[in-house]
Amino acid sequence: MKILFIGDVVGSPGRDMVQEYLPKLKEKHRPNLTIINGENAASGKGITEKIYKQFLEWGAQVITMGNHTWDKKEIFDFIDDAKYMIRPANFPEGNPGKGLVFVNINGTEVAVINLQGRTFLPASDDPFRKADELIKEAKKRTNIIFVDFHGEATSEKQAMGWYVDGRVSAVVGTHTHTQTADERILPEGTAYISDAGMTGPYDGILGVEKEAVMKRFLTSMPVRFEITKKGRTQLNGFLVTIENSNGKATKVERILINDDHPFFG
Ligand SMILES: [Fe+2]
Repeated sequence: MKILFIGDVVGSPGRDMVQEYLPKLKEKHRPNLTIINGENAASGKGITEKIYKQFLEWGAQVITMGNHTWDKKEIFDFIDDAKYMIRPANFPEGNPGKGLVFVNINGTEVAVINLQGRTFLPASDDPFRKADELIKEAKKRTNIIFVDFHGEATSEKQAMGWYVDGRVSAVVGTHTHTQTADERILPEGTAYISDAGMTGPYDGILGVEKEAVMKRFLTSMPVRFEITKKGRTQLNGFLVTIENSNGKATKVERILINDDHPFFG
């Protein structure tokens, strides 16, 4: 089983990159399953039904979310019908939607779990104990379990990787919008990267217009953060190969497409 993960898609520049490069990545790597983190897909904050459906049309099978899940109010109208969208499973009870989904790939089931860290992020339930609970549930059906852990602190993400090592196939960090170069397979067979990075503007700061961010640091004044619409774009992601029989990862690869790392088909 080969799973392609595309890191946090930011606004229309990110969506354009997915539309352009997902078919090329699929042709090159032939993944069986493609997962997109879409929590920043609508102008950087949240997702709309139209964008969710576009991602599925363009070839993704699961959309994961994060701390911006509820930013677009229309999500409350469609999340319960969006079968292949998951939001952090450790959001407190009573939140709409779900944090675990099963996908059937030609008869092989894959469980995809979304969790969110608690360090420098809004309060939520314990992601570690929630992971225990969901892994137990997923194991009843499959050994192939993919986790998108949406977190700010690399320490918390590494802790999650080690905590579930050997129990899931992959832990992929999201949220920081900066790809880390620590991809590896942990000793018990879990693929790991602290952050898959971001898909969207290449010349902004985490996707936002750099002038506004610099002004904020220089003046400490409130500024309006807008997604950079001009300039170059990038796609960041992660590719993991998994042995179907035991769910253990056998190969990991970072995906990085930008002007400094051009795509070769
Ligand atoms: Fe986030």
